[in-house]
Amino acid sequence: MTHDPQLARLGLFDARVPRYTSYPTAPHFGSDIGPSDFARWIETIPQDSAVSLYIHVPFCRRLCWFCACRTQGTTSDEPVIAYVETLKAEIALLRTHLPRGVRLSRLHWGGGTPTLLSPDLMRGLADTIFDVVPLAEDGEFSVEIDPNEIDDARLDALAASGMNRASIGVQDFDPVIQKAIGREQSYQLTRDVAERIRARGVASLNADILYGLPFQTGPRISDSVQKLLTLSPDRVALYGYAHVPWMSRRQQMIPSDEMPTPEERLSLFETARQLFLWDGYVEVGIDHFAKPEDGMAKALKAGTLRRNFQGYTDDTAPTLIGLGASSISRFPQGFAQNASATAAHTKAIRAGQFSTHRGHVFTGEDTLRARIIEALMCDFFVSRDELLRDYDVTPAAVEALFQRAAREFGDMVQVSDEGFRIPDRARPLTRMIARAFDAYDSEKAKHSSAV
Ligand SMILES: C[S@@+](CC[C@H](N)C(=O)[O-])C[C@H]1O[C@@H](n2cnc3c(N)ncnc32)[C@H](O)[C@@H]1O
Ligand code: SF4
Repeated sequence: MTHDPQLARLGLFDARVPRYTSYPTAPHFGSDIGPSDFARWIETIPQDSAVSLYIHVPFCRRLCWFCACRTQGTTSDEPVIAYVETLKAEIALLRTHLPRGVRLSRLHWGGGTPTLLSPDLMRGLADTIFDVVPLAEDGEFSVEIDPNEIDDARLDALAASGMNRASIGVQDFDPVIQKAIGREQSYQLTRDVAERIRARGVASLNADILYGLPFQTGPRISDSVQKLLTLSPDRVALYGYAHVPWMSRRQQMIPSDEMPTPEERLSLFETARQLFLWDGYVEVGIDHFAKPEDGMAKALKAGTLRRNFQGYTDDTAPTLIGLGASSISRFPQGFAQNASATAAHTKAIRAGQFSTHRGHVFTGEDTLRARIIEALMCDFFVSRDELLRDYDVTPAAVEALFQRAAREFGDMVQVSDEGFRIPDRARPLTRMIARAFDAYDSEKAKHSSAV
């Protein structure tokens, strides 16, 4: 990739462009989707099919300044215990609507910090889930782990419950950067947690790191990536730090004038990228790297890589059910989002109702545009034949969509008989090019991107 002034002109450095983990993006959901739609969509899941489940735990012991995730700090256990009770009631409610024989393709616990649950709470939650929807034979159970908030008893509970993929938050190993982003975590601690995870036979280890942090330089990110490589993660998410202090108040603690310039950001990404590639990792989409034998790298090769609310995935289940406050579900019919505030979510569930308060019903055009955007984010290529085969669209309409984007991005995109391609040198523009296919895009969307 080159540092091309044309990239800047075309909007490379606009941090507000969506990451397109869904289409339409969440700010475009409406309030016309409620609990009865959610319940009805669950009832239409085919018997004996596979679905995926996301469980959101919106609590943390520490509140890192850089973090833009939806979470709240708590020092006491009471709200966590009460929340797990609510989750169990939500799962019991799910049981009353779920068709027979449904299995889990993927179970993911995210947050927040799911590892702040006590071992008993972890075991109880996992048992309740698997009692209603067992994990399929080749299913994956993954958990986001804050290395500062885990111990042997909790790792034992997770491993005994079947966790086979662990995702650890690293961000950066440099002490100056860690201090500036309000997240202190030594290399020794992270390495120790990685070893203890592996010692329990957990098959796969993921790690999250960030580029574009305050005080980050080429030598510093090289050092952090090299340290991370000593842990030999199977998969790495190299996210661009989203500095959105107007949305995430904690980020106001971070010195904005120490942020790298947009050009430096690109160079930081490139430095980290080269190190992963030299170490034999496969580049996956805009911000992931995976060992060639990892499922994500294999999915990329097979053309089955997908994008969902957690980012890239090799999961092909058509339905993802999100439980817990603010979680979003995806059905073939549309999206449904739970109440964002823990109190509102709890109140609905305790009253025997799902807390769905927003969502979106797909139109035919939505599914076409969603596939184009997903294909660009995953493969940097959209096939004309695939669109004409799988969607109710004419060749002229596909051409018009491609040409509209081509007018905006000129030689940064290639339109051919095969389809629409983003060449290597334009990959840093992928989210911007995807936005050219977003019919809902507006000033509002540009100003509400979040992690
Ligand atoms: C929901 S957090 C959970 C991680 C876990 N609680 C921990 O601290 O290790 C998941 C990931 O989101 C990413 N993230 C959070 N805030 C971000 C931001 N402002 N920009 C980019 N990525 C961010 C971080 O890489 C983080 O590891
Ligand atoms: S990075 Fe993890 S521990 Fe820190 S605030 Fe975000 S979710 Fe909580």
